Formats: sequence, structure tokens, C-alpha cells
Amino acid sequence: MIIAPSLLAADFGHLAEAVDMINRSEAGWIHCDVMDGVFVPNISFGFPVIKSVQSLAQKPLDVHLMIVNPDRYISQVRDCGAMMMNVHYEACTHLHRTIQSIHDAGMKAAVTLNPATPVILLSDIISDVDMVLLMSVNPGFGGQSFIEHTTEKIRQLKALIETSHSGALIQVDGGINQKTAAIVADAGADVAVAGSSVFKAADPLAEIAALASV
Ligand code: DX5
Ligand code: ZN
Repeated sequence: MIIAPSLLAADFGHLAEAVDMINRSEAGWIHCDVMDGVFVPNISFGFPVIKSVQSLAQKPLDVHLMIVNPDRYISQVRDCGAMMMNVHYEACTHLHRTIQSIHDAGMKAAVTLNPATPVILLSDIISDVDMVLLMSVNPGFGGQSFIEHTTEKIRQLKALIETSHSGALIQVDGGINQKTAAIVADAGADVAVAGSSVFKAADPLAEIAALASV
């Protein structure tokens, strides 16, 4: 699996060291969690921080926007050098237009589902997206426990991708550790986000390697 460490769990006083660790690791991407205090009950960091991360990063940036009206920020996310712009299904009234605009801006487009949002709602957009992120916790905070129903949603999403001949990747975010990484990989996930398990580990490089090899 591709591992995308989430900077949300890093020490923000030493972000450069966190990015350097990820650069030297087996991680595939760097996951940046943007929260607005409206869509989710927490505020994290915004575009100036992501720009600084990008200037140090040697891996693609996967930007997860837990914000209302993400359409308003497409050019700013592009200007941060993001590879992937990820918007929540629940935050987009005109998701098809949003996905199109992200592509027009030259980025890959992903859509995220909250734990209570069913996979079937993606049937009319699955061919247009590069990735679907299934939240395996309620978004807003790191360090929560994996919601087990996510495993069934991964299987449903895999079936939807196969029947619609979509090339979308499946990403899972929240409560990922070595045990849950094995479960989601087995169910068909391509990418796992890991925050606490990486940054609270005694040896983050070894933890990323272990997660990548499940
Ligand atoms: C939660 C964020 C996650 C978070 C995951 O709302 O989207 O990316 O950093 O943290 P852990 O891995 O600690 O559950
Ligand atoms: Zn995230």
C-alpha cells in the first residue's frame, strides 16, 4: 500500500524535521489536513503552511480539505503545488463541477466520504475521480479509533470501481496502525493515511516501512 503520513500529528514547531523524515521514508505521499472550524469542529493549518511544506517536500502532496465551499480555494491549492486536491462529498453542492475545476487547474481530484455517507452516492461520479477517500473516523481530529464498518465500505467501493471501469484509487484515513492497515489492504485499499501511528512511534521510519509492507 501507498502510505501517506498525516502532518496533523507532527510537532508543528518542527515541521521541517517531519517533512525531512517523510522524504527519507518509504512513504509515497504527504497528507495535509486543512480544517476550517465549520465543516469540522477543529482548525488545523492553511495554505501558507502547505506552501512551506511543499518547498521542502520530495514527495507529492495529498491535500485533504475538511472545509465548506472548497471550490473557492482551487487556485490556492494548485499554487501550493498539490498533486491531489481532495474535497468532501458532504461539502460540495455541485460535485461534478468541482471535480472538473480541479482537473482544469491541473491537479488530480479526489472525493471523501464521511463514515455515515454511503458509497452508492458515488455511482454517478466514480468515473470522473482519481481517488475516493473513505473516512474511517469522523473527521476533525487525529488519534481516534478505526470504525470497523469501513472495511465493508472498501469492498463496496472496490465493486463499484470494477463495474464502472473507473481507475479511482481507494484511500482510507483515520485510526490506521499496523493491525488496521492489514485489514484495509486486504479489503482492497490502495492508500492509507497514518498520523498518530507514525508520529508517536519510537521509530517513525520503521513504522512507515511496516505499514507500507502489510
Ligand atoms: C482526521 C484527519 C486525518 C488524521 C488521521 O480528520 O483527516 O488525516 O490526521 O490521524 P490518525 O492517523 O491519528 O487517526
Ligand atoms: Zn486526512
